[in-house]
Amino acid sequence: GSKALTLPEIAARKGKTPLVCLTAYTTPVAKLVDDHCDLVLVGDSVGMVLHGMPSTLGVTLEMMILHGKAVRRGLQRALMVVDMPFGSYEESPAQAFRNAARVMVETGAAAIKLEGGEHLAETIRFLTARGIPVMGHVGLTPQAVNTFGGYHVQGRGEDAERILRDATAVTEAGAFAVVLEKIPEALARLITEQVAIPTIGIGASPACDGQILVVDDMLGLFGEFRPRFVKRYAELGKDAEAAIAAYANEVRERAFPGAEHVFDHGPGTVSVGEA
Ligand code: KIV
Ligand code: NA
Repeated sequence: GSKALTLPEIAARKGKTPLVCLTAYTTPVAKLVDDHCDLVLVGDSVGMVLHGMPSTLGVTLEMMILHGKAVRRGLQRALMVVDMPFGSYEESPAQAFRNAARVMVETGAAAIKLEGGEHLAETIRFLTARGIPVMGHVGLTPQAVNTFGGYHVQGRGEDAERILRDATAVTEAGAFAVVLEKIPEALARLITEQVAIPTIGIGASPACDGQILVVDDMLGLFGEFRPRFVKRYAELGKDAEAAIAAYANEVRERAFPGAEHVFDHGPGTVSVGEA
């Protein structure tokens, strides 16, 4: 493959060609997305998408490191960012640094992502000053689902001011890019115009500098819910179910395995030792 993208190259794409981003949690999927994406996020969505958790709150640092290592092995070109899970960075800049350094060293990530705006600016500044590049994430921040009381659109009406302040704070604190999740188009456009770093949208309109989706969502593999912002580019879940049903039928009908799957097919003879 082509040579690995660097963080300054990603940051310099602001206002130029759109940044293509997807999540990945495993080596085979990382290999599939690598040639086509600029940035691959090992999202804490892994808890819901691969582990059946009801929210991202139960995701641990160990899970992020395990999946980060798996994804790292599948990438050659795309920049890898790993999510910091709930509880691993909010307490203090020192706690965030300790855990983020583990993620960087153990997974080989180029950067980490954490959720939050103004209240995390000090932490973002602390990390970026010490060699840990940070991607911000404002708007709907799923780790705050209990505060929001659900996964609602953020930044409508008067609330727009808060999201703009968050995006600005994250930028001024030194983040190299910021995810805007589930906010109205006009707000996404305003933020994208006002901040100096690339905005990566998910449910945040084409006005952003790039887009990201959860790969299992866009492949039709994760069927639990279908938010408006997810476009399904494939129906792999349906295809997989049909394949599994066909296998089950063929086993029950003794149609599988067929002759071509069998070693020395036929009545044959067997030499067994004397008892
Ligand atoms: O965890 C995740 O997958 C994310 C993105 C979708 C932005 O944070
Ligand atoms: Na996430």
